[in-house]
Amino acid sequence: MQFADLISNIRSRFPALARTVNGHPAVYFDGPGGTQVPQVVIDAVSDYYSRCNANHGGVFATSSESDTILDEAHQAVADFLGTDDPNTVVFGANMTTLTFALSRSLSRSWKPGDEIIVSRLDHDANYTPWVMAAQDAGATVRHIEINTKECTLNLDSFRNVLSDKTKLVAVGCASNAVGTVNPVRDICNLSQQAGALTFLDAVHFSPHALVDVQEFGCDFLACSAYKFFGPHVGILWGRREHLESLPAYKVRPAPDDLPGKWMTGTQNHEGIVGTLAAIDYLAGLGRTLSRESDLSRREALTHAMTAIQQYESDLIWHLIDSLQGLQSIRIYGITDPTRRAERLPTISVTHSKRDPESLASHLGSRGFFVWHGNFYAQPLTEVLDLEPRGMVRVGLAHYNTRTEVDRLIETLKEVD
Ligand SMILES: Cc1ncc(COP(=O)(O)O)c(C=O)c1O
Repeated sequence: MQFADLISNIRSRFPALARTVNGHPAVYFDGPGGTQVPQVVIDAVSDYYSRCNANHGGVFATSSESDTILDEAHQAVADFLGTDDPNTVVFGANMTTLTFALSRSLSRSWKPGDEIIVSRLDHDANYTPWVMAAQDAGATVRHIEINTKECTLNLDSFRNVLSDKTKLVAVGCASNAVGTVNPVRDICNLSQQAGALTFLDAVHFSPHALVDVQEFGCDFLACSAYKFFGPHVGILWGRREHLESLPAYKVRPAPDDLPGKWMTGTQNHEGIVGTLAAIDYLAGLGRTLSRESDLSRREALTHAMTAIQQYESDLIWHLIDSLQGLQSIRIYGITDPTRRAERLPTISVTHSKRDPESLASHLGSRGFFVWHGNFYAQPLTEVLDLEPRGMVRVGLAHYNTRTEVDRLIETLKEVD
């Protein structure tokens, strides 16, 4: 079955998509800041509260039922990330908090003379935690520079700074501002050859394409369920040997084994259960698309994410094509159609007559939900000299349609 044949069914499963603004249908182009959730996620959260709301580790019905479903959520995220070890999946408040925690643990062994590498294409959550940890340890921070015209990573600058002094390379799988997909497999490969660990930020990548920690070859990877149709929950994955050997900042009664060692305090159980439901929603799409009901969850997710990537790619290139006909719009990021594989359906623009906030507000009044500013991708907006106003970001998700893209273009024509 083709993805486009399923789109009305998909949309009917997201209650938020039915709302209107000033008489206009709401168009959710704000996915990179957080996606909408299908009814099955809302039901799962609600059901958790009605049926088995309890703390972890008790020997009574609600606690053991709660623990069973939380274990299933670890397995679901393992399937989502491409690992067969559910205990290497750590839940937490959000990606930023988990990254700060891991950076503190990793940097305990760093010393003056050691180096780390961060990129200028990243969200600040994959930049400042590492910079601060390096500062605390007296280590040196090096940068992967960008090719400003296309907003891609400059791999020569990476090779120039990578050395046997490098302890860690932190890089995003894709830019949340301009949609560039980074060559993380090559980066992980080169880093490993130099003896450096790798940390990948898959927050922006994971709603749009298949994450595969084995294929990427990374040591750590983080993402956030609220960007892939789930609740506000952060996720960290690490290779078992690292998660076991690294010191975790934890209280004494908390477990010393995985994954509890890294999951500080009482978790957001209802959110974790909603995360399981979001992954099962995606796996369900994969089974419907493939017409094979007995696929494993990972196989089903592979089908779903491949189809989503293709559908979204067609949409974003239609949007890019149409935007190129508008005089007032400047697009940041890849616009060369021969490089389709290097971009996700997220685009940022500036307007020659309107500042980003006023353009976003105009679009907002017409029902288009778009973000303006730097989207915390501040290393990038600094290099592009776009501070403090930033850009306007249009972020497509698999529940968006060509009709919505065409309506956006018509609305932009009014202010061209
Ligand atoms: C690419 C990227 N990395 C990291 C983050 C931070 O994620 P969280 O809100 O889970 O801390 C975001 C959030 O927008 C993001 O887009």
